[in-house]
Parts: sequence; C-alpha cells; structure tokens
Amino acid sequence: MQKIPAEQGAVTFYELLGGSPEPIRVLVERFYDIMDSDERAAGIRSLHPQELTSSREKLFMFLTGWSGGPQLYIERYGHPFLRRRHLPFAIGESERDQWMYCMIRAMHEIGLAEPVINKLSHALWDVADFMRNQSA
Ligand code: HEM
Repeated sequence: MQKIPAEQGAVTFYELLGGSPEPIRVLVERFYDIMDSDERAAGIRSLHPQELTSSREKLFMFLTGWSGGPQLYIERYGHPFLRRRHLPFAIGESERDQWMYCMIRAMHEIGLAEPVINKLSHALWDVADFMRNQSA
C-alpha cells in the first residue's frame, strides 16, 4: 500500500506565531485596544464589561491552547463550552464581522506576515461564525 507523505511544513498556529505565548498576548492586547477605541466595534464593545482585564486574560489563555500551545484556559477553567458561554449575548453577522475586523486589524498592526494572517483569519472566522446565535 502506498504511503501518503506527511503534509509538507504542516505546523500549528502556535508555531506559526512564534512558538511561545508572548505573541498571542501581544495580539490579544491589540485586539481589545482596538475594540475599546474603534467606533466600528462599538456594537460588540458594549456587550463586554467596562473593565477588559479579565476578557483579555481569558482570550489570551484560550487562544494559546486553541492555536496548539499550552492549554492555559482548560487548565484553569476546564472545558470552554465557548458557544454556550456566548449565548447570553446576541451575536449575528454584524457582531461576528466586528470581532473579525478587530482581530484582522490587530494582526496587521502587530506585523504578522500576510500568509499567516490569511490562514489564521480563515480559521478564526469559522469559530466566530459558530458563535452566531442570531440568523442575521
Ligand atoms: C463572534 C463575535 C464575538 C462576540 C460578540 C464575543 C463577545 C464576547 C463577550 C461579550 C464575552 C463575555 C465577556 C468576557 O468574558 O470577555 C466573551 C467571552 C469570551 N469570548 Fe467571545 N465573542 C465573540 C467571538 C469569540 C471568538 C471567535 C472567540 C475565540 C476564538 C471568543 C472567545 C471568548 C472567550 C475565551 C471568552 C471568555 C469565556 C469565559 O471564560 O467566560 N469569542 N465574548
């Protein structure tokens, strides 16, 4: 039987981002700084608590594990049940797009390479769309 060769250069997002939690911390900080200051994200900013420290910490921990690094969120809080945790907030296409807008702007501003931005944003779009609990 013919062996299927391992996919060339298949690495995790964690590795693509530098292989340590620090770049994810930098990305998340920028993401929330943008959400906190850009009018285009005012809709989703208003869903979040006034004080964003805990939001920053949780997204950092979650994305570190999600991207293939240490499972910081799960070690601390257990299974994320991410969709269920978002049910109290009305999330439709506009909220999803605002979230992605902040994330993609943050990726550009911290200087990620274009191919990394493309891959990462496609994968995160799927997660963001899965959070939708409103049809439009
Ligand atoms: C689609 C648009 C989204 C909106 C409007 C949204 C909004 C929110 C809000 C209002 C909270 C509660 C406040 C907080 O704890 O920060 C929250 C929590 C959280 N969100 Fe999102 N979110 C979205 C997408 C995502 C995505 C795509 C991810 C992951 C890739 C994510 C990860 C998290 C995490 C890890 C928490 C903390 C959960 C907890 O332990 O309480 N969110 N989100």
